[in-house]
This record gives sequence, structure tokens and C-alpha cells, in this order.
Amino acid sequence: MKVLIIGAGGREHALAWKLSRSGRVGKIFIAPGNAGTAEIGENVDIAVDDIPALVKFAASAKIDLTVVGPELPLTLGIVDDFRASNLKVFGPSKLAAELEGSKAFCKDLLKKYNIPSAAYEKFTDADSAKEYLKSAKLPLVIKADGLAAGKGVIICQTYEEAVAAVEQLMEERAFGTAGETIIVEEFLEGEEVSILAISDGTTVVPLAPAQDHKAIFNGDKGPNTGGMGAYSPTPLLTPAMEADILENILEPTIQAMEDEGREYTGVLYAGLMIKDGFAKVLEFNCRFGDPETQPVLMRMENDLFELLMAATEEELDEVSLSWTNATAVCVVLAAKGYPGKYEKGSVISGLDKLRGQKDTIAFHAGTAEKDGAVVTAGGRVLGITALGTSTAEAITKAYKAVEAIEWDGVYFRTDIGAKAVQKA
Ligand SMILES: Nc1ncnc2c1ncn2[C@@H]1O[C@H](COP(=O)(O)OP(=O)(O)O)[C@@H](O)[C@H]1O
Ligand SMILES: [Mg+2]
Repeated sequence: MKVLIIGAGGREHALAWKLSRSGRVGKIFIAPGNAGTAEIGENVDIAVDDIPALVKFAASAKIDLTVVGPELPLTLGIVDDFRASNLKVFGPSKLAAELEGSKAFCKDLLKKYNIPSAAYEKFTDADSAKEYLKSAKLPLVIKADGLAAGKGVIICQTYEEAVAAVEQLMEERAFGTAGETIIVEEFLEGEEVSILAISDGTTVVPLAPAQDHKAIFNGDKGPNTGGMGAYSPTPLLTPAMEADILENILEPTIQAMEDEGREYTGVLYAGLMIKDGFAKVLEFNCRFGDPETQPVLMRMENDLFELLMAATEEELDEVSLSWTNATAVCVVLAAKGYPGKYEKGSVISGLDKLRGQKDTIAFHAGTAEKDGAVVTAGGRVLGITALGTSTAEAITKAYKAVEAIEWDGVYFRTDIGAKAVQKA
């Protein structure tokens, strides 16, 4: 079988790596891919949002299954266009992807179907929002409705900060039309976990839970990034809580989407806040998380191709998943300056030292090949992921591998997974 993966990040390298281990997958194409995916399959130089070119390529290369990585093409309707051309594709339709593409849609749906989430108000003009803020309880959270690459959420401790956030999103349009509508949300305390689940429209199968580190600095301090590291499993969830999340959050959401005429297939990624053993939805994403996918797929014992195929053919009720008991930890190596301005083009050394290691993988994110060398080409560059018999061992193995890698301006956190060890 031939598979096309759309995207260029660490998530897509991990998907390519896992799919390449399936006995049923012959050839893998990645559009546009990175230096890591080029070692597994063939990179195709098409941008993730050039949907007509992707459809044309998939048809001419006779692709049996396309797996969409990032949210942008999903919210643009790539799945609808592939299906219209009779091409099998794993992901939600444009209407279903609105669950991530519009936070207002998501919040309204959660409220309508009584799925636990923070209380909120929705605004389409800045004056009413500011009026509301005068009497709103602090702290609170202000969110741009649309996609903002993880930067459209502002946690406000004071009234002044909240007014500034409204002005930034709605008046200055810092994220363009994403800020046409905003959500003002109750601040939830607790600890966050990510549950990625696979849905075929009716049946939903959760993957092993993971926790990520969003902030740039140690101790979860500083501005949020796409994610500086992740680990799976997490000591935060008991099996009873996982069952509760399936029953009270994931299944009702899939059912709600069906009731709304927006059948949801693909990955349903729930960002959850856990407090006193109880989960509330922070948001949904409509795709695999990055970097959570890297540790989660390293622990999966199933054939990923068969799982994704079952999801596209509405046969998920026949699937049961199994996981190694080992813990996986992923440490992201980023370019100095990320999530702000950073440089590209530094030569990365040491990758050859990790090649062939069974329990440690350097998943590439922002990398490219230049004159025979691997160079940095993005903010998040590598995700060094290791399996260990305990979280502590996985951390030690991951950081030992990190030491082998070098480039001019490498930055990483030194405490990935530490909060899980403290808790265990
Ligand atoms: N209601 C809330 N209470 C506390 N923290 C929140 C709340 N909503 C969001 N956050 C924080 O902001 C981060 C980003 O918010 P999220 O809704 O996941 O948007 P996005 O990932 O699209 O930026 C969350 O991971 C969480 O740390
Ligand atoms: Mg989020």
C-alpha cells in the first residue's frame, strides 16, 4: 500500500516512522516533509495548504491512504476534496474540523450538549467585551475564535490586561480574522493532559494519554510554544478517570457532532484540565498533537496503518489497542530565540550517533538537507524520544541522546518529564 503523509513536523516524522513498520505499507510519501522523513520515504515538494496539487499528486501516484498532519489543510477542507476525488483520507471534514478551527463553535457545542468545560461569554465587538470585563471575575482567559498558531490565548490577571487583550485581538487584529470573535472564559486551575482519540464517526478509541510542556522555560515558565516536550503515560490519570473521560467527554462529543450533521472522523485531541480527579475540556484539536504523538506512537504496539484504515472504513469497533508498559519521553530541541525570532541554516551534528538505536529516536521537525548535511529549518528542530522502564529512566536516556546533538544556538528545557517523576 502507498501512503501520503501531509505535513513537515516532528509529528509527521513520527507518523512516517510508525507507518513504515507496518507490513502492509510499501511506500511512504511526505508532503513537504523534512530531512528525517526523507530517510523513511520520499518527500514531495507540495505545501500543506495547496490542496488541488495534493489531490492531483495522490491521484496520479495512486495513494491508498492519505494522513493529514496539521490543522490548516483540515480546516480548509482537504478531506472533503480528497473524498470527492474518491481518495481515502484520514481526518475530519471541513465542517467537523471547525471543532478546532472555531473556539466559539466548540464552546457552543460543549454547552449545548452539557460536556464539562469552563464557563464563557462570546463577543463580536470590542465595546461589549470591554463592558463585560468591568464586572468579570479575575483571573480570566481571552481567546481568539480562529486559528492563531497557539498564540491567540491570553491569560489575564488584571482588568487592564484583559482590556489590552481585547484590543490586541479585536482592534489591532494581531491574528487577523481569527480575532473577529473572541471568547472570554473562566480561568480553570489544575493540571493539563492531552488525550488523543481515533474516531470513525461512531466509535471512538482513545490512545494512551500524554502530558506536554508548553512553556519555553524550565518550571513551565515563560511564553507558550508549540510544545517543548511530552511524555506518556502520565501519573495524573487513573484508569477510572480515563474511562470517565471516554464516557463523559469523548463519546458525547462524537455523538454531538453526528447530531449536528458534522460526522467526526480522524483524531479527536482533547486538551483537558484535571482538578480533584475531574476533567474539563480546554479545547479540542482535530489532528495528532505535536509533540505528544512522538512518545505516544513509540509506545503503541498496534499496526498504525491498520488502525487508521479501520477509522476511515468505519470498522473501529473491531480494533483494540495495546501499549508497552514502558514510558516514553520526548525532549524538543529548538532554535535559540524560539518562540520569537530565531535563525535557520545551522549545521546539526551528532545525529549519526543515534542512528540504529532501538529505544531512542531523533524525530525531525524543522530540519532540511543542505549540501549533504542536515541543517536547522524551523523553531522546533528535533524531538529526541526515548523509551525507558520508568519515567526516570526514559528521561535519563533522552537527555543522554540530547547531549550527542549539537548546533550553533541549540536550546532545550532540562526538566522535561520531571513533574511526572515527582508525582509517581
Ligand atoms: N480556561 C482556562 N483556564 C486556564 N488555563 C487555560 C484556559 N484555557 C486555556 N488555558 C491555557 O492556555 C493554553 C492554550 O489554550 P487552548 O484553548 O488550548 O488554545 P490553543 O492551543 O489553541 O492556543 C492551554 O493549554 C492552557 O494552558
Ligand atoms: Mg491547546
